Amino acid sequence: MKLAIIGTGYVGLITGACFAEFGYETICIDKDEKRVNELNNSKCPFFEPGIEDLLNKHLNKTKLLSFSSSLSNSISNADIIFITVGTPSKRIEGEADLSYVWNVADEISKNINKYCVIVTKSTVPVGTTREVQNIISKKIHEENFDIVSNPEFLREGSAINDFTRPDRVVIGCENKKSEEIMRELYKPLNLIDTQIVVTSIETSEIIKYASNSFLATKISFINQVANLCEKVGADIQDVAQGMGIDKRIGAKFLDAGPGYGGSCFPKDVKAFINTADKNDIDLSILSAVDKFNDGRVVEITNKIISKSNLKKGDSIALLGLSFKPNTDDIRDSTSLKIAKTLNDMNIKIQSYDPVAMKNAKEENPFLVLCSNAYEACNNAKVIIIGTEWNEFRALDFKKINKKKNKLYIFDLRNIYSPKELKELGFDYFGTGK
Ligand code: UDX
Ligand code: UDX
Repeated sequence: MKLAIIGTGYVGLITGACFAEFGYETICIDKDEKRVNELNNSKCPFFEPGIEDLLNKHLNKTKLLSFSSSLSNSISNADIIFITVGTPSKRIEGEADLSYVWNVADEISKNINKYCVIVTKSTVPVGTTREVQNIISKKIHEENFDIVSNPEFLREGSAINDFTRPDRVVIGCENKKSEEIMRELYKPLNLIDTQIVVTSIETSEIIKYASNSFLATKISFINQVANLCEKVGADIQDVAQGMGIDKRIGAKFLDAGPGYGGSCFPKDVKAFINTADKNDIDLSILSAVDKFNDGRVVEITNKIISKSNLKKGDSIALLGLSFKPNTDDIRDSTSLKIAKTLNDMNIKIQSYDPVAMKNAKEENPFLVLCSNAYEACNNAKVIIIGTEWNEFRALDFKKINKKKNKLYIFDLRNIYSPKELKELGFDYFGTGK
């Protein structure tokens, strides 16, 4: 089975490298020639644990993996073609921008010359896969291709594990022929009894949006309950634990924080709301989730300013710039939203992140980059733990010299307990505690 993957972002690159790991000859295509050259030298354009070893293994040892910037030369003998280009939010009303998908679908239709399965793997609104079929059938007879929806559920920072050990594989298809081909493709996962959900194309597209939207709902819910806990003196982590033991609720995605960020939840929630609006369906729960999350980082920033009486000219330490640990992705990073607001107040942002400083500085030149957490804390009036990197979990607070007798710590991810830091003389503020 020969595979072609179009678009080498998080979804495309991980998909290609992991299918090579499954033993398939896989070519990954990207219009960005610089990116293709880097990839052919096993250099990944983003930080993802384990990806460069996987690229190196399948580029140089098994030679199952290759990269090209020419779509026309690369897909003609593919049995399955995956569309994994970005589907960013449009400015207006959060609608997904599908121009890349349409463009790729048109290019595919000009370059296939044998039966193949064409798969939408990027997160695409319901109806997109059907539209891809319409575009391709303008040039290719419907007998000579099938379309499939096969959404991806990987998380950045654990992408390889999520792809190779998924909870489930979702396949939306419309005939036995394409179903059998997709089952054959994912056969290596039978070894670990992965559940394969086969359904209609529209159902598959909705499963993806509904899953991301539900996870985002859990986060906005626990963040609102966290505000109540602060008011009444309860502890949100204990609340989440007490809730999560109930298997119907589940313990995951109940960590209170500054709100969800990243390249998926914010855009996918807005796109799903847009789909509901277009179909005149009430999905107002999700509008509340989205609206609260947009305001969450503002309320957290205001709390930091008011509780520490931050003023123009003060210095703060910002630990963690990426939107989550184990990635250098800063898309919709809550840490950087906080940094921008404080910078507008002429506050000096001494910042440190294990891997995301380069990306963060490019977009936010005002950041003062430090070589470690302790340097960032030097002479700071406030320490903000913005992203829960493991290396922030055991800071030696005695090494942090307190310029004045007051040093405020805002632990946005509840890494520490109030007791231990108050005993060290810090003014500690958790989230929901
Ligand atoms: C992915 C999925 O596309 C998105 O639906 C999901 O919600 C998040 O993960 P990502 O992999 O991060 O997005 O995509 P992105 O980082 O935007 O990279 C897409 C790649 O496709 C880029 O390298 C771009 O150069 C390439 N591309 C885009 C093409 O090769 N051809 C095109 O026509 C458009
Ligand atoms: C998400 C989905 O988890 C994944 O299945 C989908 O394919 C892509 O989108 P990702 O965006 O990489 O993955 O990161 P995730 O770990 O889900 O975190 C998303 C955001 O939610 C981050 O900003 C994170 O800080 C936040 N979050 C997550 C919380 O605030 N609390 C939690 O309990 C979990």
